[in-house]
Amino acid sequence: MAARKVALLTFLAAACCAVHAPSTAAWSTAISHKHSPGSTGPAAAHPPGMHIVIAVHQEDVNEVEQYVEKLLGIRSVAATHPRIFIYCKGTPVFVAQARDRGFAHEVIELPNVGREQETYLWHIVAHYDRLPEHVFFSQALANYEELLLGRLQTLFSPRTGALGLGLVAICTCEGYSDLWAGHGPGGFIRLREVWALAQGTLCPHEFACFHNGFLVASRARLHLQPRKLYEYLLGLFATPANHPLRANEELYKHVKSNLPDEWPTWGHVMERSWNALLNCTDVEVAYGCNTPCESEDCSQLERCQCLDDGTPHAGVAPI
Ligand SMILES: *[C@@H]1O[C@H](CO)[C@@H](O)[C@H](O)[C@H]1NC(C)=O
Repeated sequence: MAARKVALLTFLAAACCAVHAPSTAAWSTAISHKHSPGSTGPAAAHPPGMHIVIAVHQEDVNEVEQYVEKLLGIRSVAATHPRIFIYCKGTPVFVAQARDRGFAHEVIELPNVGREQETYLWHIVAHYDRLPEHVFFSQALANYEELLLGRLQTLFSPRTGALGLGLVAICTCEGYSDLWAGHGPGGFIRLREVWALAQGTLCPHEFACFHNGFLVASRARLHLQPRKLYEYLLGLFATPANHPLRANEELYKHVKSNLPDEWPTWGHVMERSWNALLNCTDVEVAYGCNTPCESEDCSQLERCQCLDDGTPHAGVAPI
């Protein structure tokens, strides 16, 4: 176990500082400019194989466009004919620019609440009954671009159930993560409760958890939870300070950690909750993602993700 942890940390140290050279993307398509959430055009009636959900805050539109091109340059992603959703929080200029450029199918403005996690829940709630085979949730730019593109390239397939595209760690039920020395920062007390809601069991000691807010989830995995649970979790972002849920702030906030006060605690709980919601919690997934592959075939699909059973959806090319 200790050796694996050393390997994990070594790998992460390497992964964190690598910069990926832009790849050429084959990306040309006619794009419409719908921006009303829940719109029911012909495309919505027959969802494509993937939604790419991008949560923008104040990023540069050129960089976001380049990022989208890189995603679409990955064959297995392009094969799904993804529909691109750009969600903007507090950036009217970006909204206008993105609509003008036309690199997304839908550009949607949301109130600036809850960062990317609130956006992801919003998307699921809005599309719950028409989810495509996969939803790729992403911040506007990759934290670890080489890692993200590499994993998509080698691991994403029609059988992907849940795949973390940021750092994948081992978390405790309070959100302490082995990515930080001494298992900090953490103290996200509510994580234990979200686990119980999602899994119907008490939280075990530790589990694999995706970090950074980048993941691919299949419809089958997203549908493991009822829509009303996503609605409930979404609503928690708007819990007023005088609500009984917040009477004991210690339960709501991180405790005994050095996280800056302005970090949204509930967002961090959500960031660490996807594994329980998507039932992809085995710590071996985290080890598989973080141990440098030493065998000949490093593209074994099960190494660093949770796969769905069953035959791939017709029309989605296998990689
Ligand atoms: C969750 O995953 C476990 C382990 O892979 C599996 O045994 C169980 O059936 C899954 N639960 C659901 C509801 O799919």
